[in-house]
Amino acid sequence: MSLLDVRDLTIRTSDGRALVCDLSFCVDRGERLGLIGESGSGKSLTTLAVLGLLPDGMTATGSVELDGTQIVGASEKRLVGVRGSAAAIVFQEPLTALDPLMRVGRQLAEPLRRRGLKGDALRKAVAEALEQVRLPEPGRIARAFPHEISGGQRQRVALAMALACEPDLLIADEPTTALDVTVQSEMLVLLDTLVGERGMAVLFVSHDLAVVSRVTDRVLVMKDGRAVEDGTVRDLVRAPRQAYTQALVDSARKLESALDLGEPR
Ligand SMILES: Nc1ncnc2c1ncn2[C@@H]1O[C@H](COP(=O)(O)OP(=O)(O)OP(=O)(O)O)[C@@H](O)[C@H]1O
Ligand SMILES: [Mg+2]
Repeated sequence: MSLLDVRDLTIRTSDGRALVCDLSFCVDRGERLGLIGESGSGKSLTTLAVLGLLPDGMTATGSVELDGTQIVGASEKRLVGVRGSAAAIVFQEPLTALDPLMRVGRQLAEPLRRRGLKGDALRKAVAEALEQVRLPEPGRIARAFPHEISGGQRQRVALAMALACEPDLLIADEPTTALDVTVQSEMLVLLDTLVGERGMAVLFVSHDLAVVSRVTDRVLVMKDGRAVEDGTVRDLVRAPRQAYTQALVDSARKLESALDLGEPR
């Protein structure tokens, strides 16, 4: 059984408009899948549906099985149990995930506390979580409020929070687009290393094939809420079946010519 099994997922607005249509894909344990497509193609909605976090008024039909739990139609109680343990998400803008009024260390402590840590063990785990995402001066970062650290540091904190839940599946929705190129590159290497060490499965979302190819080997291409093509990055680069995929390949080449798209990972 796959860790994540999405079948015929359709997401509709309250007035019945389908924003994602008949989408099917699987992610096995330890596997990494990239979700790629232009802006508005339905990537983020798909990840939100996986966690049962669709915006108010939107409904999902079809089937989303995460670690054996049916997410479509599940009660909030059920979903709370699944989120964090089966899957955790890193958003494009880390401020979405961070509480602006709470010091970084306290926020990071929350998922660790839920895992039963307290006192000195909890303090040590918070410091370790910050060190593991290669944040210098973890003590200072822990005492800071989110606005007192840089965008790149915030993104590392958000990654540390997601990893602290020890999820089987890490969902990363454009985790690097808000960062400058050097910081983006460091973040991708870090993500690749940390999920590799843990053998985590990854659902990695981006509109940039060059970025996706740094983290995943298999890619699903979305357009207007539908899957149009899937395969390994190598296959898509060498022989895209759709003009749309070709365009993504071309823009990835232009954006990151230094990256050898022929040899992903
Ligand atoms: N809360 C909402 N209410 C109504 N429509 C929405 C809402 N959120 C997203 N949509 C629409 O659903 C479609 C898919 O949106 P989604 O955010 O999944 O795209 P995306 O592929 O993540 O794009 P991007 O690359 O810009 O992040 C878009 O047409 C968008 O306008
Ligand atoms: Mg999005």
